[in-house]
Amino acid sequence: MAGRGRFITLEGGEGAGKSTQLRLLADALAACGIDVVVTREPGGSPGAEQIRALLVSGDTGRWSPVTEGLLHTAARRDHLERTVWPALDAGRWVLCDRFFDSTMAYQGYGLGLGREPIETLQRVALGDFRPDLTLILDLPVETGLKRASDRRGGEDRYERMDVDFHRRLRDGFLDIARREPARCAVIDAAHPVEAVQAAILDAVTRRLDVRVP
Ligand code: TMP
Repeated sequence: MAGRGRFITLEGGEGAGKSTQLRLLADALAACGIDVVVTREPGGSPGAEQIRALLVSGDTGRWSPVTEGLLHTAARRDHLERTVWPALDAGRWVLCDRFFDSTMAYQGYGLGLGREPIETLQRVALGDFRPDLTLILDLPVETGLKRASDRRGGEDRYERMDVDFHRRLRDGFLDIARREPARCAVIDAAHPVEAVQAAILDAVTRRLDVRVP
């Protein structure tokens, strides 16, 4: 069997450009002959996509913070079992649009649950499993919300939360990066797409010991 693949997660607030950057990174890694799987959370497996629909649409207050943390965690466990772990075992690299840091930032810091309950949920769902590298795309809240509002219909439940919520989760992501500098790289996402892409390739090259063109 092939050696175990690598697991890279992209994180950040609304409108940070994660999806675009994920595609560019996937293309760059594929050009090096790496077998890449691109996936997302909440979602990434049939069951988790069904849970996603409950989370990203509807009234902003439809779930209590604890229920919301549990739903994201349930979706994550299904995604890991059905998609992420089998791919890594097959030697593929998995690039994931959001992962457990989003639960810490959005539900822990943004909705005010705090770190401890989220850490408990992560222990149950993940055990010791962690990403090899987490890229946190950082952007001023107002810029991100403006970009995000231009793009999608329906899946906007979190975008509609108040601006202080978005400030708390931006600070939350930066705090996560400060606590775990070996795993997390903060990328300034206010720059043009090409500059952000270059910063991401640099982080992947240096931290995962791979040459990308
Ligand atoms: P997306 O916009 O990146 O597709 O993500 C969907 C929304 O879900 C986004 O607004 C962030 C939110 N989210 C959480 O609140 N907690 C989580 O654990 C995850 C994975 C996403």
